[in-house]
Amino acid sequence: MKSRAPAKIAASILSADLTRLGEQVKEAEAGGADRVHIDVMDGTFVPNITFGPAVVRAVHRTTDLPLSTHLMIVEPERYIPEFVAAGSSWVQVHQETCPHLHRTLQQIKSLGARAGVVLNPATPAASLDAILGDVDSVLVMTVNPGFGGQKFISSMLDKIRRIRCMLDSCGSPADIEVDGGIDPQTAPLVVEAGANVLVAGQAVFGTGHSVTQAIARLREVVSGLR
Ligand code: DX5
Ligand code: ZN
Repeated sequence: MKSRAPAKIAASILSADLTRLGEQVKEAEAGGADRVHIDVMDGTFVPNITFGPAVVRAVHRTTDLPLSTHLMIVEPERYIPEFVAAGSSWVQVHQETCPHLHRTLQQIKSLGARAGVVLNPATPAASLDAILGDVDSVLVMTVNPGFGGQKFISSMLDKIRRIRCMLDSCGSPADIEVDGGIDPQTAPLVVEAGANVLVAGQAVFGTGHSVTQAIARLREVVSGLR
């Protein structure tokens, strides 16, 4: 494998203690997280409801880290301007919610944010063929979206490998992110398969150890793999 930069860690606030969200975000920043991942759920595309632009704005005021906003909502194009204005550096939309995906990606970029496409576990890598050159990141769901703390779906490793080949063969520098069930056991597997951004909720905020220790552990298990 080509040598690449070390894998990045995106701390998913879904598993943070929301009674002290600002502190938890600051702990993640001080502990060496590279991004903050914010899960936006609408109760329609996924069976859960979470955060809106006001929370993104509040997190943005709390940290200098780039915010990556994962939109698990129908008709995301209606809300993208508000999420970018709230401070999202990255906006990630599901392939399954965007019949005009090319247009939606251009919309995100025209607002000055980076554009990511998310694939549910059942959505094949090949669905990216026609828009590979337009994405800054591909986010591979390694659980079915909606909740933190679910079990990693190991058949997604093959999809990560395929997407890594697709991006390398067209010379794209886009990130491959993985989201769901990422912990010290699964992180080395996804990085070996070609992922370079690890989204983690429970493994950052829910280990029983400090956020700093949790991030250090994730870094340790993937160090030297890339
Ligand atoms: C799930 C979300 C994830 C979630 C991951 O739908 O997209 O970002 O926070 O949680 P863990 O890392 O606990 O599996
Ligand atoms: Zn997410």
